[in-house]
Amino acid sequence: MNYSRIAGTGSYLPAKVLTNRDLEKMVDTSDQWIRERTGIEKRHIAAADETTCDLAEPAARRALQAAKVDSGEIDLIIVATTTPDQVFPSTACLLQQRLDIHGCPAFDVQAVCTGFVYAVAVADNFIRTGSARCALVVGAETFSRIVDWSDRGTSVLFGDGAGAVVLKASKEPGIISTHLHADGAYESLLRVPAGVSKGYDLVQEGGAYTEMRGNEVFRMAVTTLGRIVDETLQANGLQKTDIDWLIPHQANIRIIQATARKLRMPMERVVVTVSEHGNTSAASVPLALDVAVRDGRIQRGETLLMEAFGGGFTWGSVLLKY
Ligand code: UT7
Repeated sequence: MNYSRIAGTGSYLPAKVLTNRDLEKMVDTSDQWIRERTGIEKRHIAAADETTCDLAEPAARRALQAAKVDSGEIDLIIVATTTPDQVFPSTACLLQQRLDIHGCPAFDVQAVCTGFVYAVAVADNFIRTGSARCALVVGAETFSRIVDWSDRGTSVLFGDGAGAVVLKASKEPGIISTHLHADGAYESLLRVPAGVSKGYDLVQEGGAYTEMRGNEVFRMAVTTLGRIVDETLQANGLQKTDIDWLIPHQANIRIIQATARKLRMPMERVVVTVSEHGNTSAASVPLALDVAVRDGRIQRGETLLMEAFGGGFTWGSVLLKY
């Protein structure tokens, strides 16, 4: 039996920082409102000529370096993104070219904020079945491109960035279990209602933006994430106290706190980057993971629970021994 194990992590943030004070000059909002309602203080925004693949590449290189893996060893590349560089080739193929990797499967996964959790689950299954031995899994977004900067309900929330992991085949877990869900019935609560085969004129005019009924999404996120935590623990016969670290999707500090309460976890055991990064969609979980690995909080052998909720709705979790 093969398991997959995280051999290394990496991340990258674009240089430009947008603070709450900057946003006060753009929309009718305040630093106090944003901090109190979301926990966000600042976010990073990609430069006009900086693409999702430009963010994914340094994150991937850092993960390869941390894993001590040569790019030639990679036999699967998955990029989770909502904001691909081009319609095609996929961002995963563009990244493959940059890393000078040839021949292995490379594809994108689109599950918005749950994208990285989905991508890890897919890669884990490839490795478990013996179809891959060394996978590069990236979550990367230039989400700022699909934000209406005149809408205070959404513009204060999102940021850009990338995070990556190298997953290697291992005799020991590694990833213990993954849990994925979706329910398309909630499309109208969170969406960009235009794309290639519908509303392409809007895209061309620069008017295809994220629409969210924030309050309703908030309530669904809290209940659903509570449920996925229970499902993950039950599936593995674990107690709440068995989890060393919670690495949640970074959408809103109040959602994160509610999930931590459900797990009866002190906030010291929860990795929080929402204050620094905002909501970076598919990049948020691997960014948070990399931050806590590199600053020495997360140690080898500890049990981690990663969870996310996003557009679709999609939601899921990954339980692993680091
Ligand atoms: O990652 C995918 C999943 N996404 C999420 O999980 C996001 C979930 N939703 C949220 O995080 C929260 O719902 C928001 C942060 C988006 C909004 O917080 P809220 O506490 O749910 O506020 P609200 O939408 O109920 O609005 C409360 C008030 C309203 O004013 P009135 O009607 O009470 O006068 C809004 O117009 O706050 C107003 N408001 C703002 N005020 C200042 C909304 N946005 C802003 C703003 N600055 N940026």
